[in-house]
This record gives sequence, structure tokens and C-alpha cells, in this order.
Amino acid sequence: MHHHRREPCQRILVLLGLIAVSGCDGLLQSSDSPGGARSASGSCTQCSSGWLDGSALLTPVNREQGLRSDYEPTDLVTLPASVALGSQRLRKAAADALVSLLKAAYHELGADLYCASSYRSFATQCTLFASYAARDGCDEANTYSAQAGRSEHQLGTVCDLADATGEFLPGENALDEYLARRAPELGFVMSYPPGTSDVTGYISEPWHFRYLGRKAAAQLRERELAEGRRLSTHEFLRDLSEEERAALEEEGAGGGTTPADDCGGVSLKGYCWADGKHLTYCKNGKLVDLACSGENVCRPRQGSVDDFDCLPPPADGGSCGPVTAKGFCSADRSHLTFCKEGALKTIACSGENVCQPREGTTDDFDCLPAR
Ligand code: DAL
Ligand code: ZN
Repeated sequence: MHHHRREPCQRILVLLGLIAVSGCDGLLQSSDSPGGARSASGSCTQCSSGWLDGSALLTPVNREQGLRSDYEPTDLVTLPASVALGSQRLRKAAADALVSLLKAAYHELGADLYCASSYRSFATQCTLFASYAARDGCDEANTYSAQAGRSEHQLGTVCDLADATGEFLPGENALDEYLARRAPELGFVMSYPPGTSDVTGYISEPWHFRYLGRKAAAQLRERELAEGRRLSTHEFLRDLSEEERAALEEEGAGGGTTPADDCGGVSLKGYCWADGKHLTYCKNGKLVDLACSGENVCRPRQGSVDDFDCLPPPADGGSCGPVTAKGFCSADRSHLTFCKEGALKTIACSGENVCQPREGTTDDFDCLPAR
């Protein structure tokens, strides 16, 4: 999997390179308090500081409420190259959760995703917005880019997701549906989903995911399901009382709410990566990735079909080794491997079918219409 390396999001880099940064320095207005000016005034490329400290995961950052120009997260880490285009930094908890999410997407859906844009400082956002305004005009830029201090990217908990070529996720497809359900289980939500422009002031961004922590993200998702519509982070955070926000923040930050055997659906039994040389499993509530050493390959343990480990390759290539007639699915769910009359068989699922457990079972796999 993730062996492709591509240049960082070209749109952003090209623009950053082309546009001079004048207009972004020395233009901070004195609005470091809630009583201060709440948006940039004068030239639309003047960057005005907000007043918020962004260290809380649930800090509301939007057109009206801005981060201090000097707010910078203290626990930024660089994402593993396997999930990033170029060098990308996120806060530690968000980085860990993102790795889990992107691996889950690969394992469960065969989707090869990368973080193409992550933490952006106030100064970077200032430059970026100025470049967009220079290209498209101020009004147009305001529909798709936040001004400095008003971008969730300054929180260090946001990634713009792209494919290996740097194309941002288009939305409105199976991957979109998958992420709407799966991302919240790992603490991420789409900040600007379809149908929320009137609240956020921005166009829909099916690629922009923010880490809120599992509890908060799950609550946002519950509201979406209950109300039958998508919800922006702007609206979700706006509607929380101070008490609710504080409670969710505590749960999100503590990490102690994650059951020891649950890493977002990955169990201690783990799963193998498509390359057969890596094993991912959950231990004490933490997702562990293991590169199989030497000749070992990732495959089911003897007598099991869903409990994986790094093991010597099957000694007898002609037998099915530990694989039973119930079989198992490839990481991308496009193939089913099972044992028939002493011989290992792999079939490609045809048409709309995907490899998944039969209804009512967890260890008996077949190619079936997606559920
Ligand atoms: N594109 C989003 C709104 C940002 O600039 O943060
Ligand atoms: Zn974004």
C-alpha cells in the first residue's frame, strides 16, 4: 500500500510560491479580545487576529470566532510518510486517529487516501488567502478559503484528504458514505458537508476532516442520523452548551473512554495489509502496526480464519495451511480465499459484490452484494 509519494497539494504550493507575502505581515489589527473586530476589515487580505486559544479540541473556529494570531499547537507531530503527501503535521491525538482512519479505509474499502494539507499557521493561512483573493477576487475567495485566524487548519487537527495524485476527495460516492459513517468512530468529522453552506458560509468540502475526539464526533454523527441531514462543525459546536462542550472535551482528551480492546473496530485479532507483510492489531486500546520480519508473512493462525499473525509461510504449498472452507477476504474486499478439497482457491468477486461475512456470521465469508 502506501508506497506512492507525490508532491504536496500543488494548488496550495504553487499559489504560495507565486504570491508575495506582503499584506500578511504587520497588518494585524488589535482585536485580541471578544470585543475586538470580528473580521478582517479594510482590504480583504489584511489579516486580523482573533482571540481564541485553540488548545481545546472543540474550539469553535469560524467566520465570527477567530484564533489568536500567535496560537500554535504545542504537540504537533509529523505524519508518517505512508499517509501524507509531502510533510504534514497534526496534533498527536489527531495524527494517531488519522493513521487509523486511513488504514481502515484502505483495509475495509481499498481506498488509498492521503493527508494533503494539515496544520497551517496564521501566517501561512494569511498568505494562502491573499493568493486566492489575488487570483479569484475577494468575494470568491471568501466562499472557499478561511481568512487567517478563521481556519480550522490552524488548530492542527484538520486534514484535507486526497488520493495519491493530490486530487481532493470529490464527495458523493461510496467513499464519502463510508467516511461519513467510519470517520466519526475514529474521532473525525467532515467540517463542511453538503447542505451546510448557509451556516458556514463556505462551499461544501468533502475532503476537509477535523478531529473532535470520539465522543464528540459520535455525537455529531448521532445528530446527523436523527435529523436526517449533514451537520457542520460550526453548527454542532455552536449548539453545545458550555457544560456539554466541557464534558465532551474531557472525554475526548482523556482517551480513557476507549475500551482496552477497541481501536475503532480493530480487535486484538487484527488484520493483514494487502502486501501480506504487515499486521495491524489493537493492544490495550492502542493500534499497533507490525512489519513481519524475515520470511514471515501475515496470515491466519492455525485453526482460525480471523485471528492473524506474522508467521512462517505455509510449509506445504499444496495444502490449505490454516485456511478453512470458510475462507477470508483480501484487504480490499475484492477477493475471497478459501480451501476447497485440500486446495487453496482465490476468487475475484464479480460485479457489485464484495467479500464480506455471510449474514449472521463473523467468520464465514463470501462474495455478496454490499450491505
Ligand atoms: N477551506 C477552509 C474553509 C479553510 O480555509 O480553512
Ligand atoms: Zn481544509
